[in-house]
Amino acid sequence: MLYLIGTGLGDERDLTLRAVDILKKCSKVYFEYYTSIYRGDLKKLEMLIDKPIILADRKMIEVESDKILDDAKNKNVALLIMGDIFSATTHSDMVLRAEEKGIQVAVIHNASILTAIGDTGLSLYKFGRTASIPFLTDSWKVDSPYEILRDNKKNGEAHTLFLLDLKVTEKKTMTFNQAIEFLIEIESRKKEGLITNDTLVVGCCGLGFEGLEMFYGKLSDVLKKNSNVFPQCLIIPGKLHFIEEEMLERFKVE
Ligand SMILES: C[S@@+](CC[C@H](N)C(=O)[O-])C[C@H]1O[C@@H](n2cnc3c(N)ncnc32)[C@H](O)[C@@H]1O
Repeated sequence: MLYLIGTGLGDERDLTLRAVDILKKCSKVYFEYYTSIYRGDLKKLEMLIDKPIILADRKMIEVESDKILDDAKNKNVALLIMGDIFSATTHSDMVLRAEEKGIQVAVIHNASILTAIGDTGLSLYKFGRTASIPFLTDSWKVDSPYEILRDNKKNGEAHTLFLLDLKVTEKKTMTFNQAIEFLIEIESRKKEGLITNDTLVVGCCGLGFEGLEMFYGKLSDVLKKNSNVFPQCLIIPGKLHFIEEEMLERFKVE
């Protein structure tokens, strides 16, 4: 059996009781350790489930997953995934390949950034497509986040969530300020007026755990704020209902 288990957004105490029971019974436990930042302590997690954890990088999950799947043919194997299983980075490929090999798969859900953004007060029903903002090199430009923002605005003024790049091995994580700068750079080339000093934005840091921070206001004001709470994401709200506005006002920066 292969168990795909979400860690949630906090530390080891955010695993569900069912997840802990299963992890204690598994012969091997892998931890997908590259798609977000874990707020927990791996040593404490190992103590909780009474076995060592094998850290799995992108190559191990996307290219060498047969190793994990072959183990799961005769034993109970778990793969821990930060947040929830199918949110943002999809692990559908793993499910399909396991089933092709005749391995049963069970999914244990947990909290995700895709729902924790509800902390802002923005209605989850009113979000459009999610965009990812990558770290760029001088020779590589990506305009898709700007295009997704444009489409979401066209489609009923939907809210846009931007997930930000991180490089765990290099200890590099993008801040909401860098994400704003990224969008300003595209605006300077495209000049469609989607991003101005007055555009309302929300910088979100470490949602779903102690010490979370949110900054709401005009782009030029939010850009002046900083946070060392990670991971971070950015939201550009669409049309606001007055309740959403009232909720956001609680994090207003001038
Ligand atoms: C590729 S997504 C992985 C999402 C994860 N599977 C989940 O369900 O939450 C990782 C990105 O989401 C955003 N993110 C994840 N957790 C966050 C949090 N607690 N607060 C703010 N942003 C977060 C960051 O931009 C981070 O780089």
